[in-house]
Amino acid sequence: MNLRRTLIYTLLLLACVVCVSCKSARKKYLIGVSQCSNDIWRDKQNSELRMGTYLYDNVELAFATADDSDERQVQQIDSLVGEGIDLLIVAPNQVGTISPAIDRAYDKGIPVIVFERKTDSKKYTAYMGADNHEMGKLMGEYAASRLHRQGTIVEVMGLKGSSPAIERHNGFMEALRQYPQISVVATLQGDWTEPTAYNITKEWLQTHRGEDVDLVFGMNDRMAMGARKAFDESGSRHPLYCGIDGLPGEGGGIQLVREKLLDASYIYPTHGDQLLQLAVDILEGRDYKKETSLMSAIVTPDNARVLQLESDEVIRQAQYVQQLHELSAGYLQQVGTQRMVILLSAGIIALLLVIIIGIRHYHQQKVRIAQERGRLQRKQLEFYTQVSHELRTPLTLIDGPLAQLAATPEMQGASAATSNMLDIVRRNVGHLSALVNKIFDVQLGKKTQGMTPSEIDELIVNQTKEAHDMRLNETPADALSQPDGDRPTVLIVDDNADIRSYLTAILQPRYRVVEAADGRQGLEKALEEVPDLIVSDVMMPVMNGLDFCRQLKENFVASHIPVILVTARAMDQHQVEGYQSGADAYITKPFVPDVLLARIDNLLKNRKTLKNLWAAAAPASESESDPADNNDNRPDSTEGAPLADGKNGFIARFKRVVEERMDDSDLSVEAIASELALSRVQLYRKVKALTGCTPVDLLRKARLNKARRLLTESDLSVSEIAYSVGFTSPSYFSKCFKDEYGIVPGDARQ
Ligand code: FRU
Repeated sequence: MNLRRTLIYTLLLLACVVCVSCKSARKKYLIGVSQCSNDIWRDKQNSELRMGTYLYDNVELAFATADDSDERQVQQIDSLVGEGIDLLIVAPNQVGTISPAIDRAYDKGIPVIVFERKTDSKKYTAYMGADNHEMGKLMGEYAASRLHRQGTIVEVMGLKGSSPAIERHNGFMEALRQYPQISVVATLQGDWTEPTAYNITKEWLQTHRGEDVDLVFGMNDRMAMGARKAFDESGSRHPLYCGIDGLPGEGGGIQLVREKLLDASYIYPTHGDQLLQLAVDILEGRDYKKETSLMSAIVTPDNARVLQLESDEVIRQAQYVQQLHELSAGYLQQVGTQRMVILLSAGIIALLLVIIIGIRHYHQQKVRIAQERGRLQRKQLEFYTQVSHELRTPLTLIDGPLAQLAATPEMQGASAATSNMLDIVRRNVGHLSALVNKIFDVQLGKKTQGMTPSEIDELIVNQTKEAHDMRLNETPADALSQPDGDRPTVLIVDDNADIRSYLTAILQPRYRVVEAADGRQGLEKALEEVPDLIVSDVMMPVMNGLDFCRQLKENFVASHIPVILVTARAMDQHQVEGYQSGADAYITKPFVPDVLLARIDNLLKNRKTLKNLWAAAAPASESESDPADNNDNRPDSTEGAPLADGKNGFIARFKRVVEERMDDSDLSVEAIASELALSRVQLYRKVKALTGCTPVDLLRKARLNKARRLLTESDLSVSEIAYSVGFTSPSYFSKCFKDEYGIVPGDARQ
């Protein structure tokens, strides 16, 4: 997978996780609630508003309570607007006093819901509340019926200027107008609170002692109770007490009626949850009613019990809902935490993924660059090797023949000017060689690093001279005079005809030379001639020297032949390749002829030949199989048992054929060769190279060896033994036996 695609996938994954985690991130709403008063009725409404928000996780409420103060409520509305509320719910303290603040909010585009109390402004979005006029009227009707249409009433009013007070009063009076025998003896101005109601009633009672009062209408239950307290304290006869609010719960209007502290109340609906629903509808752009009138009911001693049971049930349910909400809030918090953890983990995983991919990409790039660099280096190396080959070959062909020329008797006796000129040429060829070596970082190049040109000259001249002197001193006269047949054969494999003829010129005085122009020809010649040693170039067409060497060393016939690679491939790495292909020696061009000769001489001298084949350690058939069958009989192998032969190796197979067939007096070398799938020459050369003996000699030695064993181990006569090991004449057997062991067969028996 490529980096870019992986990155895109990772980012998509991250985006999905973020989306999932933000699914609930809808627009948040802040709703300001401005309450004019602080009492149990308001408390109930506020908690219903809060409960209303449980349906929504995007709604938040900001409460403000003015404690019946106009100025405070105005300030609070302004600061709620400043907080950035999205909607204002307001219960204005009085009709006209709060309107400017409400108008300001409305003018800023904030939707306004006026609830329960009214304003004189038209700047509001919706109104919700009970019908206070109707409520006053119904209370008037109830009072009339309780008073049997006649009697006296004291009215305790709510805050002057607040709309419920005005409307309830009007409704009450409207109802009582039908009952002329009922008179409202006092309308006391309260402010919705119990203490004020108590005080004003007390005051009135003090000034109206002895006056009969049949009913007190407190505009809310608290004020009715305040008035009751004043009556109680005055010692006057208790009238009937009627209030409004009819709240559920401890101390609420329903309980007061049940306990007969009040005669009647009127349920003044709070409906906070309904109010919140209206607010959300407005905020979310849904349809809504501009004016909502809340329904209500009167509480009397007749229905107080039922209403209390119902309201207790409602309270119980509300508590249950509250508990559920707290529980679910806990769960939601857990979910939120888990979501955060998941999001964080996904983020970390994505980050790790990106880092891992980045590292992998970086590593791959590095490997790619290294590979590319390696490829370039190889190309460079190939190029340098090629160039070096091209340069070294002609250098070899100039330097070598020049040295030969300098060593001739004619040049030895040449004039000073001529030998000086020859010296100049030789010095400059050497200089050139040194430069080539320096460029291609070969041995001589390393030696000459940091040397001045004249020092290089000196080094070269000295090296060249030393080499020539060595050759002049070492070339033995008898080597030159050796007849061709006795001399070891050297196969030269090189595609450059000049090099071949130069090498031939160097080697011919000592060896019989055979030539081949490339690896394939070399292989053919090697199998045909089975030479004693091969000198091969590496860079050649058709088949290069390394492949040639490898195939040669794997060949049954030629595996024993030592190979010297002579090449311009001078780097250490090239030499390693050369040895890995099975080469026995490695000489770089331009080479010093005597070094080559000395190397050849050494390799041939160090050939480890098997002196007595029949005395060799274990018989082939019993020896363990050797995985290096074809290479283990190489004559120039290092220490150990160079001729230790696997059961399928050449020596073992040769011994097996001879041992099996030695009693056949007609057994010929040709027969043995064909048994081994070799030509006569191949057999002869291989056997000679490995044992120093000819196959005929070895056959005779095998027969004599067996005869000697039979002489000591059997009762057969000498003649019988001679025939049994393949001799046709007992006297010839005795002669051969004496030649081999220095005693006659008869003596060998004792
Ligand atoms: C609560 C309250 C009620 C009353 C209403 C009038 O604050 O005083 O007792 O019925 O307000 O607005």
